[in-house]
Amino acid sequence: MADEKRRIQDLTDLPGVGPSTAQKLIEAGFTSIEAVAVATPQEISAATGISLPAAVKIVKAAREALDIRFKTARELKEERLKVRKITTGSKNLDELLGGGVETRTITEFYGEYGSGKTQICHQLSVNVQLPEDKGGLAAKAVYIDTEGTFRWERIEQMARGVGLDPDEVMENIYWIRAINSHHQMAIVDELFDLVKKDNIKLIVVDSVTSHFRAEFPGRENLAMRQQLLNRHLHQLMRLAEIYNVAVVITNQVMARPDVFYGDPTQAVGGHVLGHAPGVRVYLKKSRGNRRIARVVDAPHLPEGETVFAITEWGIRDPE
Ligand SMILES: Nc1ncnc2c1ncn2[C@@H]1O[C@H](COP(=O)(O)OP(=O)(O)OP(=O)(O)O)[C@@H](O)[C@H]1O
Ligand SMILES: [Mg+2]
Repeated sequence: MADEKRRIQDLTDLPGVGPSTAQKLIEAGFTSIEAVAVATPQEISAATGISLPAAVKIVKAAREALDIRFKTARELKEERLKVRKITTGSKNLDELLGGGVETRTITEFYGEYGSGKTQICHQLSVNVQLPEDKGGLAAKAVYIDTEGTFRWERIEQMARGVGLDPDEVMENIYWIRAINSHHQMAIVDELFDLVKKDNIKLIVVDSVTSHFRAEFPGRENLAMRQQLLNRHLHQLMRLAEIYNVAVVITNQVMARPDVFYGDPTQAVGGHVLGHAPGVRVYLKKSRGNRRIARVVDAPHLPEGETVFAITEWGIRDPE
């Protein structure tokens, strides 16, 4: 039922598709924008009773929503030029990421407990508010907290650390606790409205996986879990692309002692982005407040790792 509701909501994102049209499409098996985009107007009209001219418009809208059309290389370049970057607070980490956390993409930070995932999310929520010449986007953040680990006290500290007014900074972070995976997905569905109206350039989901893991445990639920997660990530990707915002997700994985010096991508659980577009950053604890970051299979970024530190004032380069 909840799935059905979400599908209807998805389809009604298309201009010209109201709830009753969405219902007809779903009943005829066109349950997603993708399904509509690859159908012909004739098929849709025959299967749903929607008039042919209306079906032509719906298919066109779906293809536009998914951006299925030729683009010129020049357009690609222009899209790329729209990408903006948010500083992490550490020059090392920024360099590793090609200048900072990018808009129009999903960046996944994954690693074991205490590796700094939540600290980075807090820091980015502050830094997105910095003026552009200081590495920010002079914009607001949305923080979807699934584990209850958001701390406004930490935001205050970090705001002071970058010389911003703490109260103003806290005013510009919209925090919400997601109580389960359905709620988490519904929040993202509703974000399309908020992001459209407000100057939001960062969306954090910390952590993206915890509810899904708890609610769909074990191998027997893996397929279902992955299907829902993929849908969730897909929605986040659309938000990132349509509104040119940075999406940052975290994912706790256990370091496996036996492969600790081997390939970190083999950590238990692994990263969630799979082959979805985006940047994956593996975080590992090091001595004291130092943390090691490594970008994993990003063809456009140079291989390598770097070291940053978690200090009282936030994320910084190590002393
Ligand atoms: N006020 C602070 N001053 C200095 N260091 C801090 C402060 N708050 C947190 N830290 C550091 O950050 C670490 C916690 O990192 P963080 O909460 O980001 O981990 P995580 O990767 O999100 O872990 P989990 O998987 O459990 O969510 C602490 O162990 C501590 O070293
Ligand atoms: Mg955390």
